[in-house]
Amino acid sequence: MKITVAGTGYVGLTTGVCLAEIGHHVTCIDIQEEKISLLQAGLSPIYEPRLKPLLIKNLSSGRLDFTTNPQYAYSDAEIIFIAVGTPENDDGTANLDDVFAVARSIALNIENDVLICTKSTVPVGTNDRIKHLVHCEKPPNVHVEVASNPEFLREGSAIFDFFHGDRIVIGASHPQVAAVLEQIYLPLKIPIIKTDIRSAEMIKYVSNAFLATKISFINEIAFICEQVGANVEEVAYGVGQDKRIGHRFLRAGIGYGGSCFPKDTKALVQLSGNVKHKFELLEAVIKVNNRQQTIAVTKVKGAVGHLRGKKVALMGLSFKPNTDDVREAPSLTIIRELLEEGAVITAYDPVALTNAQLVLGDTIEYTTEIRVALTNAEIAIIATEWDEIVQLPLNTYVEYMKEAVIMDGRNCYPLEEVQKYPITYLSIGRPMITNALMNTKSII
Ligand code: UDX
Repeated sequence: MKITVAGTGYVGLTTGVCLAEIGHHVTCIDIQEEKISLLQAGLSPIYEPRLKPLLIKNLSSGRLDFTTNPQYAYSDAEIIFIAVGTPENDDGTANLDDVFAVARSIALNIENDVLICTKSTVPVGTNDRIKHLVHCEKPPNVHVEVASNPEFLREGSAIFDFFHGDRIVIGASHPQVAAVLEQIYLPLKIPIIKTDIRSAEMIKYVSNAFLATKISFINEIAFICEQVGANVEEVAYGVGQDKRIGHRFLRAGIGYGGSCFPKDTKALVQLSGNVKHKFELLEAVIKVNNRQQTIAVTKVKGAVGHLRGKKVALMGLSFKPNTDDVREAPSLTIIRELLEEGAVITAYDPVALTNAQLVLGDTIEYTTEIRVALTNAEIAIIATEWDEIVQLPLNTYVEYMKEAVIMDGRNCYPLEEVQKYPITYLSIGRPMITNALMNTKSII
């Protein structure tokens, strides 16, 4: 199959590289020339584990190439995946400008029959609009079909997810169209769900909205646990043992971030509004998440009083581990609040500093050395559960910080461990621990 992937962001690049890996001939197109030059040289513009070796391997095998030339990319493609971004408009709706720009470019450049397949997360009805647009502008002798094939990959484990996803969703208006896409994915042995286009579009939004709901739910429970003296980790474990509920996405913390959940939850609320339905449950999920992103600073202020002039070590900037993506990262909300309070911040992150610096500029100090961030700090706030942070012995905080006050926004440390050290430890949905060493000694 000769495949073209439009857009070389997380979804497009992973899809392109992995489709080449399973034997297809893939051309990836993007309008950003710098990005394409990087990729042609075998360099990845994003940090994604396992991506670079696969990129280099498939470039050298000749199954994968990169271009900015639409004529080259589209003229003889058999399948074109649209994988460009659908960022949030000011009103929460999805911005489809890039999707329609690609659709128009496809229409103007195709010379053979083609299947256009949308991977970008798009509101229900978008594929029908793409079909209409392409049909109006394509050459009359060329036959075009449109399908929806939403992407569920997680940043940080995108390559694993491509090969081991729970399901592949194909939304098509004819069984023959779905069969073409099914052939592409056959080597993966992942269950394929074939449905109509609008249901496929809906499946993506509903999946993300439901996962976000689980997170906000457990974050609400965390708040109540703190008030009644329970431990949310214990509660989530006990609840998650029920197979109908499950353990995943029940980790309490400082809220969800990233390029999908915040955007897709708002887009689904908007979509509901379009059909005159107020999606109150999802509105509450978003509201809880906004509050949750501010909880770290509220708790620290509660423990130490004012933050003016206090030196804070911000541990982790990316919205989750194993990615350099800081879009909608809770760390950014925390930093903005800390700055408003007059704190002085040094942020540690193993890979996300460049992206964070683009947003925060020189308002804070940056380091890739944990010890540099902690030296003389009066407060440490853990915002991302990077392995480097989870595995950091608590003694390091005691050794390097001026006063070891830790706000653990990701519940990285078991409380039994915390109790061995002379630190003040705040976390989410668990009891606060102060001067634990003295307590432990008295118990011994
Ligand atoms: C998500 C979906 O999982 C994926 O299927 C979709 O295609 C894109 O959006 P991603 O944004 O990469 O993927 O990250 P994910 O691992 O789902 O985490 C999202 C956010 O939720 C992160 O900020 C994470 O820290 C937070 N989270 C996740 C929690 O706070 N608690 C949890 O239990 C799980």
